[in-house]
Amino acid sequence: MSHVLSVHSYRGGTGKSNVSANLACIAATLGLRVAVLDTDLQSPGAHLLFNLDKDRVAFTLTDFVFGRCDVEEAAYDMSASLGIEQGALYLLPSSMNIESISKVLAEGYDVTRLNEQFATLQDRLELDVLFIDTHPGFNKETMLTTAVSDTLVLVVRPDRQDYHGTAVMVELSKRLRVPRVCVLANKVVRALDPGTIQAKLEEAFGYEVVGVLPFEEDMAVLGSEGLFVSRFPEHAFSKQITAIARKLLPMLPPGS
Ligand SMILES: Nc1ncnc2c1ncn2[C@@H]1O[C@H](COP(=O)(O)OP(=O)(O)O)[C@@H](O)[C@H]1O
Ligand SMILES: [Mg+2]
Repeated sequence: MSHVLSVHSYRGGTGKSNVSANLACIAATLGLRVAVLDTDLQSPGAHLLFNLDKDRVAFTLTDFVFGRCDVEEAAYDMSASLGIEQGALYLLPSSMNIESISKVLAEGYDVTRLNEQFATLQDRLELDVLFIDTHPGFNKETMLTTAVSDTLVLVVRPDRQDYHGTAVMVELSKRLRVPRVCVLANKVVRALDPGTIQAKLEEAFGYEVVGVLPFEEDMAVLGSEGLFVSRFPEHAFSKQITAIARKLLPMLPPGS
């Protein structure tokens, strides 16, 4: 079994989709085979970051969870557009179709069907790491996916609402016995000292803080029009995300 890494947050807009997509891109660039699963079926976003051409999309993760296709039929190889080796990065988008989203909202979905197919997906696509981009907050589906993750990354902004919600997430992840839980601060304004934020988070949650990412104006300007690390590989912010990828993924080959 390869590694399942979930990126979660209590509140929306913390940067989960950007964090998971950029980490995946770095991992693929450094030689791993990865997939990003957009399990935010209620409010999908990853397809935009990867500029997935909608004409290519026959099936989505939403179709899969409703039993309309096999899991690998919802996987799209994004390597060519990122200029990396073929088969290095797959995206499993979720549907933007209004009927599908309404069905998810009204009925929920059978997440065990998804969890059970992780191994199949890893085998068929020969994956090293599966990145799960989640829906924020607490819901049954996210909890069940979290429970089968090897690593859970909790993304937090320096905001009291985030801290309180994340504290509950931390308790839940303990009960779910997730093997590794890490905290990642994001959107930290330059007026705040990263070292102080790191110490505060470590003390509050008792887990490793894998990074303190600033509110990056160039990222805000990009506005989800693409993947930051692919557009600006030499940018200091990309280097920070690479350092986080190295902490999270010890299976990455050594290098700069
Ligand atoms: N470190 C950052 N600095 C500035 N803007 C950011 C940063 N991280 C994310 N963003 C922006 O915040 C918005 C929400 O990010 P997104 O990854 O979609 O969050 P989520 O998936 O948690 O809802 C996007 O417009 C994104 O470009
Ligand atoms: Mg998102």
